[in-house]
Amino acid sequence: MLDRILAALPRDYPWQAGIQYFDSIDSTNTYLKKQAALGAPHGTAAIADCQTLGRGRLGRSFQSPSGCGIYLSVLLRPNCPPQDLMHLTCAAAEAMCDAVEKAVGLRPGIKWTNDLVVGNRKIAGILTENGLNAQGLVDYAVIGTGINCCQQPEDFPAELRSTAGSLSMALGRSVDRPELAAQMLAALARMDDALFTGKERMLSRYRQDCITLGKEISLVRGTEIRHGTALDIGPQGDLIVRFSDTGEVAPVSSGEVSVRGLYGYV
Ligand code: BTN
Repeated sequence: MLDRILAALPRDYPWQAGIQYFDSIDSTNTYLKKQAALGAPHGTAAIADCQTLGRGRLGRSFQSPSGCGIYLSVLLRPNCPPQDLMHLTCAAAEAMCDAVEKAVGLRPGIKWTNDLVVGNRKIAGILTENGLNAQGLVDYAVIGTGINCCQQPEDFPAELRSTAGSLSMALGRSVDRPELAAQMLAALARMDDALFTGKERMLSRYRQDCITLGKEISLVRGTEIRHGTALDIGPQGDLIVRFSDTGEVAPVSSGEVSVRGLYGYV
């Protein structure tokens, strides 16, 4: 698998020596956080065929069976104030849309903040995790993406069956996983290149891809649920919402909030 990923990488991919492949691992994000503590360099990547403890946002688990998906994380060491990196999850989602489009010719939508969606089904999730150094600067940012490639509906657990999908389900054919993994790595390297200089352009592309905008949504924070309309994406990647109860328009940041469509997953 690693040989085929390396063969599919563009010639100018900058972090080739730092790619590590695992048949099985607990979580590629957990692994890279440990590697960050050991001094691993910017651009180190971990890819796994299967994860035994795949993690999602808000403490959820992420199903990561063997032979079905791509589970891939990249370590960045930006050494910048955390407020300069608020748009990272949006940038990562845009990069993953680019990668999927290049690999299979289909551009997913983005359910804010960073679920990739095709035909109202989630086909990928992104978990970004940051650590600060003693000066309060970002010591590491780990961007982890899991993309469902080959699953069929019966492969998902019952509770996910109506909302989860895969690229194969959407395309009606199989997916070249090494090619997709290579495109994911390449897109993340391009994202890193433009992370600070291309923020406005990235956000305007994100607004075009974001299927949440214009929708009636529920915002779930712990046990609190509020309803509103998603109006726009703010300058840091936050969601600008008009709340139904008060009419107030306010930004919502992704940290602890889960967004659902008023009538279902999207
Ligand atoms: C979500 O949907 O809430 C985010 C899912 C992120 C899953 C990826 S798979 C690679 C990396 N390793 C993990 O444990 N999680 C991320």
